[in-house]
Amino acid sequence: MEIIKVSKLSTASFAGLLEQIEIIRSSLRWSSNLDKQDIKKLLVQCNKLSDDVMLISRKERLKENIEKSATKKDHTAAQRKQGLIDRGLIFEGVFGESRKLLETLEIAEKASPTDLPILIDGESGTGKELMAKVIHNNSNRNDKAFISVNCGAIPENLIESELFGHKKGAFTGASSDRAGKFEAADGGTIFLDEIGELPLQGQVKLLRVLQSQEIQRIGSEQIITIDTRIVAATNKDLFEMASQGTFREDLFYRLSVIHVSIPPLRERKDEIPLLLEYYCDEAAEKLNRSPIQISKRLMNFFRAYDYPGNIRELRNIIYRISCLADSIADLEHLPALARQKRTLNSDEAVVEKEIANLELSLSEYKKLANDKAEKEYIEEALSNNNGNVAELARQSGMNRSHLQRILKKHALHSLDFRVKK
Ligand SMILES: Nc1ncnc2c1ncn2[C@@H]1O[C@H](COP(=O)(O)OP(=O)(O)OP(=O)(O)O)[C@@H](O)[C@H]1O
Ligand SMILES: [Mg+2]
Repeated sequence: MEIIKVSKLSTASFAGLLEQIEIIRSSLRWSSNLDKQDIKKLLVQCNKLSDDVMLISRKERLKENIEKSATKKDHTAAQRKQGLIDRGLIFEGVFGESRKLLETLEIAEKASPTDLPILIDGESGTGKELMAKVIHNNSNRNDKAFISVNCGAIPENLIESELFGHKKGAFTGASSDRAGKFEAADGGTIFLDEIGELPLQGQVKLLRVLQSQEIQRIGSEQIITIDTRIVAATNKDLFEMASQGTFREDLFYRLSVIHVSIPPLRERKDEIPLLLEYYCDEAAEKLNRSPIQISKRLMNFFRAYDYPGNIRELRNIIYRISCLADSIADLEHLPALARQKRTLNSDEAVVEKEIANLELSLSEYKKLANDKAEKEYIEEALSNNNGNVAELARQSGMNRSHLQRILKKHALHSLDFRVKK
């Protein structure tokens, strides 16, 4: 029987695919007796068709993503924030309009309903645990347990038993059978905090669990299948640790199928007024008093401070001033350490002068306003051109190396403005 060759036809479109299906169909329809060779040829054609379908669907998806990114780019930060709220994101706390944080929340929103492992990184106090709870609360597992394990706080010899449980008599002190945290989190989420502290041996075991979804209590032969979603967090650079051999690279890739980074508070200062209000109210309620008011000088301090301890530090400061101040909190209520901290950014002048209770000169005010406008202009331009520094240099008539110096001065990174595909 003559099998018509289809491979030369265009396969890059749905029309091309239909044409090929028709050809195979007529080959079959008109064949009276297919021998083995013919069947083989038809199978090869079917395989090719299936590859083409995959190719076209990948292309379609890519097109869709590009269209989505283009729409996303058109959205202002305020619209993106409102979108998250309107879509019902469960978030205990407040969030602002920083591009990086919105991106993190949008990823969390999409990844929450899946069972994919998520790795959260960020400096201490940025809200990694809160983000893990956001992921759990927005998932289909939210009526099941959220179990948090601090891998850095468990002695090395106990970590396996803590995670996977043990059988009575498995080791000295194992006086009864005990379930581990993975079993406790079955159906829910396990939050592996400070995952960078997990010893190498524990890493091997964890990798096995991720691969098989099965655990074995220490000393037991029985294999237990578990359905636990893993969210891990770290304030370390796990990628760097993997390249130095202190963290298993394969585990890093397994854990970070979805990777979200929470920006430090100093990079999302628009949140400060929101957090001040949120925590002043919360502290007032807890301390059974009316919310404190914040003096202008203190407000300037809050705006300019660098927050090495991030949101946790801000929260602690507010609780402290809410406890110490009568009705208006001022600089004297700050912890000594916060007052002494020197920041290196251009806002430092404001902090120092406000602390010294001096007025800024007109030229100093002008310089600060100028810096602020310069930063805003660059941020706006880079977000409109997908982080293209060369284009910005052309558009603003600035020499590229001068522009790079300005980016450095404002701690801006062009990569942060690229729309992720
Ligand atoms: N967006 C937010 N709104 C309100 N409170 C927040 C927000 N993010 C974090 N917090 C609060 O800040 C504190 C620190 O957050 P969290 O414990 O999640 O940080 P972390 O990154 O896990 O810190 P660490 O690395 O030190 O463990 C908590 O009290 C948390 O509730
Ligand atoms: Mg934490």
